[in-house]
Amino acid sequence: MKIARFSRVGFILAAAGSAVGLGNIWKFPYITGEYGGGAFVFVYLLTVLLIGFSIMIAEMLIGYIGRKDAVSSFENIAPTHKHLWKYGGFQSLAGLFVMIFYSVVIGWIFHYIVTSLSSLPSSVQEAETTFNAMIHTDIATQLFYHSLAFIWITYVLTKGIKGGIEKMNMFLMPALMIILAGMFIYALSLDAFPKAVNFMFAADWSKINSEAFVVAVGHAFFTLSLGMGAIMTYAASMEKNSNIVKAAFWVVFLDTIIAIVAGLMLFTFLYQYGAGPAKGPGLVFISLPAAFYEMGILGNIFAVLFFIALAFAGLTSSVSLVEPMVQYFIDRFSWSRFKSSILMGLFFYLIGIIALLSNIDGYQELLTWGDKNFFDWVDYVTSAIMLPIGGLIMAVFVGFILDKRKVESLMKPQLGFAFETWYFSLRYITPIAMFVVMLNLIGIF
Ligand code: PFF
Repeated sequence: MKIARFSRVGFILAAAGSAVGLGNIWKFPYITGEYGGGAFVFVYLLTVLLIGFSIMIAEMLIGYIGRKDAVSSFENIAPTHKHLWKYGGFQSLAGLFVMIFYSVVIGWIFHYIVTSLSSLPSSVQEAETTFNAMIHTDIATQLFYHSLAFIWITYVLTKGIKGGIEKMNMFLMPALMIILAGMFIYALSLDAFPKAVNFMFAADWSKINSEAFVVAVGHAFFTLSLGMGAIMTYAASMEKNSNIVKAAFWVVFLDTIIAIVAGLMLFTFLYQYGAGPAKGPGLVFISLPAAFYEMGILGNIFAVLFFIALAFAGLTSSVSLVEPMVQYFIDRFSWSRFKSSILMGLFFYLIGIIALLSNIDGYQELLTWGDKNFFDWVDYVTSAIMLPIGGLIMAVFVGFILDKRKVESLMKPQLGFAFETWYFSLRYITPIAMFVVMLNLIGIF
């Protein structure tokens, strides 16, 4: 049987499709708002450059030489203790866990595409009431759209690497970029644009505390899709003789530029028409629709296009979150792609319903432990704990476990003089940064 492989452009778009997701357009702007703008953006960009880019290359490398699902890839290429290193591949589970809440949020976005066609909320208060009514009381709507997300994602997965994943990304990624570019150009023409630039790039260091640092590092991982075996699983289907560094560069570049463009555009609209930047997770669902309202009919068009772009970003990432476990069952248990896709889909779909219910009045009390409900716990455990651990495992594996000569023979031709810097980052900078993040998470400083 011929093994399906991505084309070169197909791989870059699929990996960029994984990276560019709700993290870029929904989360990045609101955490930038919460942590005060410029200084936070600076720490985030530095992390992307010093740590994210290095781990992106490392993760691609493991997949590229391992050639299988993440568990088998670790096992295949670990020089010793294969039976232990294979557990590194179980990071793939984190992707399925992320999907538990990710799919519910995509459902909200679908719903917002439809409602933006007719009417927009005339004030932030109204927008807030509508949004809260949806997440706290409306089970039927959320369930309907969550089901739609499940069907779409599972369908694409059943079609495989070429006919499903590559095809979808080849269409949705350019569409997403065109929509965002168009809206960005409009934002450029508005008076408030310099204000948005100032907010995102003027650094006020007094706003940076250890929590902001940890959030910036955690987000750099999340937004680049690192530490979950997604990039690794895709890289197993790269063409022979691919240039990993070039591919990694493009993915990091596209992800970063799209986050910044989305951020600048949103803040421009919010300064020009709305209520200013800091509005938390409801930013794109509450403040933004109210700002679009002020634009009249153009606002409706923008709102629909914006939520379509957001849905595209979310769907391409979703597929990459589930694919590692789909591939795992295909490779290790000889399941058919169809069976594996459906069962993995059902997993996040059914548990996603619990996440959805945990926001609903009446169920919320049952599904809340400590200061977080089930939905928030899944978000927290995956992005704050599982991802950094996954990144750490990959950095240590490539930096210390794989034979340096082998790594050098493959990567030196691609990295040139930067090889030692990359290797140093994997061995020291990344582990130390991860360690600091974990200490902070368990409350040590
Ligand atoms: N990078 C995606 C985002 O920014 O929304 C989320 C994500 C996808 C995280 C795939 C991890 C992953 F493996």
